[in-house]
Amino acid sequence: MTGRLEGKVAIVTGAARGIGEGIADLFASEGARVVITDILEEQGEEVATRLQVRGDRAIFQKLDVSDEKSWQAVVAAAVASFGSLTTIVNNAARFSATGLTDTSLDDWDKVVAVNLTGTYLGMKTSMPELLRSGNGSVVNICSLYGLIATTGYTAYHASKGGVRMLSKASALEFAKKGVRINSVYPGDTETPAMENLTEDENAQVLSLVPMGVAGKPIDIAYGSLYLASDEAKYVTGSELVIDGGWSLP
Ligand SMILES: NC(=O)c1ccc[n+]([C@@H]2O[C@H](COP(=O)([O-])OP(=O)(O)OC[C@H]3O[C@@H](n4cnc5c(N)ncnc54)[C@H](O)[C@@H]3O)[C@@H](O)[C@H]2O)c1
Repeated sequence: MTGRLEGKVAIVTGAARGIGEGIADLFASEGARVVITDILEEQGEEVATRLQVRGDRAIFQKLDVSDEKSWQAVVAAAVASFGSLTTIVNNAARFSATGLTDTSLDDWDKVVAVNLTGTYLGMKTSMPELLRSGNGSVVNICSLYGLIATTGYTAYHASKGGVRMLSKASALEFAKKGVRINSVYPGDTETPAMENLTEDENAQVLSLVPMGVAGKPIDIAYGSLYLASDEAKYVTGSELVIDGGWSLP
C-alpha cells in the first residue's frame, strides 16, 4: 500500500463487520492508526487482532454510538493510545424495514438514536481533538436512502436524511476551522445487514441497479479513504454516491 493515511489516527464506528470493517481494514493498510469500535465486542476484538497480526496499528474499543459517555471514553482512549485524533468515520447503523404507521415509537427512537444522534455525538465529542489536530476529517456513512425515497423504511430514511443535512451544516460551520466533513451514500452493498434478504428480494433490489450487481465493502472503503486523506484537502460538505448507478433514473 502507499501510505495515503500515514500520520492519521481514525475512529471507525460499527467496524466489527460489514462496511465499517472494510473501512478500518483499508485505513490501517494505508498507514492510519485505527480505533475499531462497535457494540459487538468479540467480533471487534477479532478484527483488531487480525490487523495487528498483519503488522498494522489498531485497537478495539467497545462503543455504543448513542451514548455520550461511551463516546468520551473512546476519544480519550484514542488520544491516550495514539497521541492525537485526526479522523472519524461515523458508520454504525441500525436498520428498520417498516412504513409510517407500522413503525413503533420504540423502533423509531432506536433507529434515530444510532443513525442520527450517534453521528451528532461522534462529531461533537471528537471535535475538540479534530480541531487540535489542525487537519481533521469526518466521513459520515449515510445511504442512498438519505437521497431517494422508497416505501417501507420510514425511520431509516428519516435518520439518513438527517445525517445528510447534519453533515452539510457542520461542514459549513467548520470550513474555516481546519475540519472537513463529507458524507458517503452507499447503495446495495453485500454485508451481514443484507444477508436476511430472500433471493426474490435480492433480485428485486438488483433490478433497480443499472450496473446489475451489488457493491462490496471495499467499494465504500475506497471512497471513504479519499475523503479521509489529504488528497481531499479542498473537499468539504460533499456527497459521494457509491451505488452502481441506482440513483440515476
Ligand atoms: N449494506 C448496504 O446495502 C448499505 C446501503 C446503504 C447504506 N449503508 C450504510 O452503511 C453503514 C454500514 O452498514 P452495513 O451494511 O455494514 O451494516 P452491518 O449491520 O453489517 O454493520 C453495522 C455495524 O454497526 C454496529 N452497530 C449497530 N448499532 C450500534 C451502536 N449503537 N453502537 C455502535 N455500533 C453499532 C453493528 O454491531 C454492526 O457491526 C451503515 O451506516 C448503513 O446505513 C449500508
